[in-house]
Amino acid sequence: MEVAMYRRMWLACAVAIAIALTALPAVGGMTIKQSDLTAQKAPKGAIWVDSLGIPSTVTQDFGRPQAGRSVDGRPMTINGIVYAHGIGTHANSMMKIILDESAESFISMVGLDDEVKEEGSVVFEVWVDGNKAADSGIMRVGDEAKELRVDLTGAKEMELRVTDAGNGIGYDHADWAGAMIILKPGVKTQPRGVVVSHMFEPARIASVKPSPKPSINGPRIVGTTPGRPFIFLIPATGEGPLRYSAKNLPGDLILDPSTGIITGSVRDAGEYIVELKVEGPRGSATRELTIVAGEHKLALTPPMGWNSWNVWARDIDDAKVRAAADWMVKSGLAAHGYQYINIDDCWEGERNEKGEIVPNSKFPDMKALADYVHSKGLKLGIYSSPGPKTCAGFEGSWQHEHQDAKTYAKWGIDFLKHDWCSYRIVALNDSREELMKPYKIMRDALDRCGRDIVYSLCQYGMGNVWEWGAEVGGNLWRTTGDIHDSWNSMSSIGFGQAGTEQYAGPGHWNDPDMLVVGKVGWSANLRPSNLTPNEQVTHITLWSLLASPLLIGCDLSDMDQFTLDLLTNDEVIEVNQDMLGKQASRVWKDGELEVWARPLWDGTMAVGMFNRSIVNAEVTVNWADIGVTGPQPVRDLWLHKNVGTFNGSYTETVPAHGAILIKVGKPKQK
Ligand code: GLA
Repeated sequence: MEVAMYRRMWLACAVAIAIALTALPAVGGMTIKQSDLTAQKAPKGAIWVDSLGIPSTVTQDFGRPQAGRSVDGRPMTINGIVYAHGIGTHANSMMKIILDESAESFISMVGLDDEVKEEGSVVFEVWVDGNKAADSGIMRVGDEAKELRVDLTGAKEMELRVTDAGNGIGYDHADWAGAMIILKPGVKTQPRGVVVSHMFEPARIASVKPSPKPSINGPRIVGTTPGRPFIFLIPATGEGPLRYSAKNLPGDLILDPSTGIITGSVRDAGEYIVELKVEGPRGSATRELTIVAGEHKLALTPPMGWNSWNVWARDIDDAKVRAAADWMVKSGLAAHGYQYINIDDCWEGERNEKGEIVPNSKFPDMKALADYVHSKGLKLGIYSSPGPKTCAGFEGSWQHEHQDAKTYAKWGIDFLKHDWCSYRIVALNDSREELMKPYKIMRDALDRCGRDIVYSLCQYGMGNVWEWGAEVGGNLWRTTGDIHDSWNSMSSIGFGQAGTEQYAGPGHWNDPDMLVVGKVGWSANLRPSNLTPNEQVTHITLWSLLASPLLIGCDLSDMDQFTLDLLTNDEVIEVNQDMLGKQASRVWKDGELEVWARPLWDGTMAVGMFNRSIVNAEVTVNWADIGVTGPQPVRDLWLHKNVGTFNGSYTETVPAHGAILIKVGKPKQK
């Protein structure tokens, strides 16, 4: 059909409808009734948004976008009304459509899908050429669908956004029901969806090229119990061969000058300020290390290392643990302070006739394995449950706690993750007393086993464990359920730590679970983390500010440069390992923008600027919110850059789902 003729017919048709339905609001030249939006077929001159191939271009925080269905793939239904077309999405989401002046108007019914019975609330927004053109206000489960109409005359692009209404994304199944674009008569170009690039922008971090000049990294303080075996690898980078020496090392400790491994045991309780020195062909470095000897002085900084679960899960075996130890050194991670090699579940066999736990056939000789890990200056961790069975169904420690602690000590274990699992069938009820009971028993067993074993509680945060984890002698306690490599999982866990800060400190840490950067997959399908680069920056920034254990969960033999850049930035690690041990607090929040801060031992403040939204946004840190005044130097820790001196505040654009970590103030040297 000729364009002119088509145009005439279309106009005639539109005029006829408009005359017939004058009572209905019209946008552009054509009137659309709400009943048109539940139809199978679009009126002439209009197209369904889900016909544009748009779902593949939608960015959303949970699930996958669906064409003509809810986010869970059911018929799209709002308040009992079913729609054949539309986009089923989930907050927070954004869909960008390029119009290039091809459209007259947009119309859609919006609401939460009936498939959600629980609490859920969202706001639907339509943005045209950078300005908000319509917004639904807060919509909740059970609300009637609302109609959004927007004039698109002359518009270049449109964005359909759904935000979580400020209360998190739980149950936010959001439908753009019957979403339709009314085209300008006779247009040749069609609207098209594009991927929102903000979400996939490269991370804003510098690549870390270790300087050939020696540097001593990692913790500045370490604890031990007098008379028990001590092992510590001095984390140092720089062109080798490196030679290590130490002044004021307590009597019975020996430093191997060529490996930097300190072994032996400290005889007397006390605080020893040791001056470490590392020399290489390109210079030397010195640093104080405080060794604290006394009862219950372990984990004076958050444990750093690796755990087998997020990568190998059930497939862990002796060879994989040895490989992890090898790669911990070869990859350079050990030189930045990572020291624990932790075996998670699935190493356990049956008990022998004496009731002692015996590893399964994948672990032929646990003592030999521990010796191997120790030979590299690293430490070996293990896993058990206070219940009869572990979460994966292996033998737990119930009623064998003292025996197991002695076995671990005999093997040379340095860390125990004690995972509630089947203890739920032993516990009489869910009172705090019952929650504490098994952990007190194992604490007592560890105290009597003759070896320093860091004690890691894992019971997913039940009974506000942070309020009593230290009282039962935990060095760290999981505050949440298991983490996964999705934005929703990582960010809700990380930002959800707000309010737990008063319970953390040297020797007792909140544990928001292991890291999900690098290749993970719980053995099934190893893949690069599903977090975008900027989301990974948020992950490591938050965990550093939160003084969380840094337990890497990926395949250490297969890390790309980006993963190494994230994990080996010494300035970021310094924040995590800071001697004051103060967990950051959230000091400011406006919608999806947040500022978190923690004081550091050198008198400065570490400050995280976060953008949880799906578009890049400016964040301002006000000096008043972080307790400083006057002009203050600011250093960007991810970029390794002094960005200048600022009076009153500091503002920077933070990438979508990304973070910036700065240090504010002039460091006082100790
Ligand atoms: C629980 C824990 C995980 C992991 C598994 C092992 O789910 O929370 O971290 O240890 O058990 O079975």
